[in-house]
Amino acid sequence: MTDTTGSLNVGGTELKLPIREGSIGPAVMDIQTLYKNTGLFTYDPGFTSTASCESKITFIDGDEGVLLYRGYPIDDLAEHGDFLETSYLLLHGELPTSAQKAEFDRLVTRHTMVHEQMSRFYSGFRRDAHPMAVLCGVVGALSAFYHDSTDITDPAQREIAAIRMIAKIPTLAAMAYKYSIGQPFVYPQNSLDFAANFLNMCFAVPCEEYKVNPVLARAMDRIFTLHADHEQNASTSTVRLAGSSGANPFACIAAGIACLWGPAHGGANEAALKMLSEIGTPDNVDKYVKKAKDKNDPFRLMGFGHRVYKNYDPRAKIMQKTCHEVLGELGIKDDPLLEVAIQLEQIALKDDYFVEKKLYPNIDFYSGITLKAMGFPTDMFTVLFAVARTVGWVAQWKEMVEDPGQKIGRPRQLYTGSPRRDYTSISQRR
Ligand code: SDX
Repeated sequence: MTDTTGSLNVGGTELKLPIREGSIGPAVMDIQTLYKNTGLFTYDPGFTSTASCESKITFIDGDEGVLLYRGYPIDDLAEHGDFLETSYLLLHGELPTSAQKAEFDRLVTRHTMVHEQMSRFYSGFRRDAHPMAVLCGVVGALSAFYHDSTDITDPAQREIAAIRMIAKIPTLAAMAYKYSIGQPFVYPQNSLDFAANFLNMCFAVPCEEYKVNPVLARAMDRIFTLHADHEQNASTSTVRLAGSSGANPFACIAAGIACLWGPAHGGANEAALKMLSEIGTPDNVDKYVKKAKDKNDPFRLMGFGHRVYKNYDPRAKIMQKTCHEVLGELGIKDDPLLEVAIQLEQIALKDDYFVEKKLYPNIDFYSGITLKAMGFPTDMFTVLFAVARTVGWVAQWKEMVEDPGQKIGRPRQLYTGSPRRDYTSISQRR
């Protein structure tokens, strides 16, 4: 990676700035000395042209529609591996040997139980609380239980906190679902793999044996792999910023969950399904495409568009295939929502507005139909996204904490408020 130098002319003064090449993808202009040398800040509110960090974990080529986890294409990992193999890869940088995989699976499996007192937090919520509100609360509460893994300067504590977070998030998520439907919590089963155990905790009931459908378990596992990490997206950046202050990992993940909830981010799968239901039939698609194109109409096609992908989201392709597998396995033919989705995709991908703006279906477009068919209520969709993305957040948090150059994130601003002015007593105010 050869570094070169760029120059910036500011008011007649030329400033030399290093340009650093990555291993692949865009180079960066290092502007860390800009303010000191020019008194100027850069201005990039949505970080559309800003690299916030150096990372070795995930790479996206938005123009080519490529997603790599530690260099491995998402298609290969989703097809040939499983979620815990991908989790090991994201955390440690290499695919595990069979012995490493067996040990990692054992470790995660044996940490899926939560402290029995955690269950009391749930009864403080209304039954109709959104499961994401519950998950935010209970994940933050983990900090109160695991004092032996909150010292982020201790590598051993960072390691056990990572395992605990990855292992316990499915249990906490399933408990949020069970609480919302008034059913008893189901304990983790160590005899089941990660995805099967999650389905069992969500859908088993004490009154009869629950047999996990292997096709649905495989689909669930693949959906987790697809959602595991995605560079410096909004929620990952939130986790990094929270972690940069030295906050404990559980609190940082709770911050990531809060950010993921937004409909422009992880909440889009829930919003996309609601949109498909609102459209209702393929005949209505044209009307909604017109609304999406109308600058005066706030309506957007949820599940379409992406800050980075200006080509098809590779995860959406795999999600679409998984959607058909699940519907086929469940014998669901002519799902009206799928009909609407297919029609919407066909029309949008030919429409000049979407073509010019490079708006393609993203991962959230097909995931909602799949998860609904699997039996999850719409308000659980983003919770499932959080279950998967926890390993990405933890891997990125660990990379940030272990970066010797790491410092607290503290952006500046362009101030356009009132200049200094004198205080006036209330009697003088008009
Ligand atoms: C995720 O960052 C990640 O990696 C996120 C994620 C991950 O794995 O972490 O991939 C997960 O969040 C996927 C995205 C899910 N969100 C949605 O599906 C919500 C719908 N999409 C949009 O809100 C939007 O596309 C965003 C938020 C995803 C991206 O927004 P950008 O990059 O800020 O783009 P923009 O809003 O500036 O849009 C560019 C143009 C605008 O028109 P102009 O102002 O240029 O005329 O495209 C239009 C937008 O109006 N546009 C849309 C649209 N998305 C963008 N118009 C209609 N429908 C849409 N969905």
